[in-house]
Amino acid sequence: MTTVLVTGGAGYIGSHACKMLAREGYTPVTYDSLVTGWQDAVKFGPFEKGDLCDRARLDEVFATYQPTAVMHFAALSQVGESMNHPARYWRNNVEGSLTLLQAAVGGGTQNIVFSSTCATYGDQDNVVLDEDCPQHPINAYGSSKRAIEDMLRDFEVAHGLRHVIFRYFNVAGCDPEAEVGEFHQPETHLIPLVLDAIAGKRDALTIFGTDYDTPDGTCIRDYVHVMDLVEAHIKGLKWLEQGKESRVFNLGTGTGFSVREVIEQAHAVTNREVPVIEGPRRPGDCTKLVSGSTRAEEELGWAPGRSKMRQMIEDAWRWHQSGHYEK
Ligand code: UFG
Repeated sequence: MTTVLVTGGAGYIGSHACKMLAREGYTPVTYDSLVTGWQDAVKFGPFEKGDLCDRARLDEVFATYQPTAVMHFAALSQVGESMNHPARYWRNNVEGSLTLLQAAVGGGTQNIVFSSTCATYGDQDNVVLDEDCPQHPINAYGSSKRAIEDMLRDFEVAHGLRHVIFRYFNVAGCDPEAEVGEFHQPETHLIPLVLDAIAGKRDALTIFGTDYDTPDGTCIRDYVHVMDLVEAHIKGLKWLEQGKESRVFNLGTGTGFSVREVIEQAHAVTNREVPVIEGPRRPGDCTKLVSGSTRAEEELGWAPGRSKMRQMIEDAWRWHQSGHYEK
């Protein structure tokens, strides 16, 4: 069986990727520091605890498993935190990825699938973003991911390490079988926070800014179901296995939802009121991030079939009610 090293495999997206990899006949080896991940989420292959910046530990893991590919999810990913603590993002994301790439080259791994973000594009005045749009991030999180993209290009030229880069839009929903799900501590993402507010686990959901230049004044995002997202990763892995050229793909649906629209849909799915407070803008937030997603559809044959807002909230709500991981 083909072994894939999954950094961040104990996190939200990484754990879903491990499930999909195992289903497709791969052996996913999770490498995770458990700083933001959960060991309970590692259910589909071996687990190796370690930090991305720990070269000796990475070398050991590469030597033990000799993975043919890496899926690199491990990262700090909070836009707001990145504005206040940029060093954490440059160290964990950029230095960590540099260490990982060096270990991958040393270990003879030839393919890497990398989690990047639409936050690398920055705020571009109501443009639907395709992969050729210029990248001008407005937060340290986006800057850190853009730097890693550059690093991947340099490593390919020098060392032949080939890559598929996925720029995610907003990932939502959960495994419909609720074996794994979304659980961040602290939680900062809109949909789980809305569900927490509905369930009475917090007092109210604060809308960050109602004075944006959008039809209802709140930010617009393009939400993609996590199962669709990880399916694209399998297709990206196979793309590299077939010897195709390194490539960047956006992963979004081309449809945006405002914060208020997400709240309305959550109300419709759960049939419960969402307590809401209107607050100020959150630093680092772009007005609108919506994907031009035809490249992934045309070249990878990807179809984001589960990425309907109602479906994403239903799957998230099922997981939300079924319990959470424990440290
Ligand atoms: N929001 C609120 N109140 C909250 C939380 C969020 O109004 O309590 C708003 C945000 O201001 C934003 C939208 O809901 O307009 C979505 O916010 P999230 O925090 O759920 O997601 P972000 O768009 O900030 O960021 C997410 C990921 C990033 C990724 C980005 C790409 O966390 O890693 O999507 O858009 F880069």
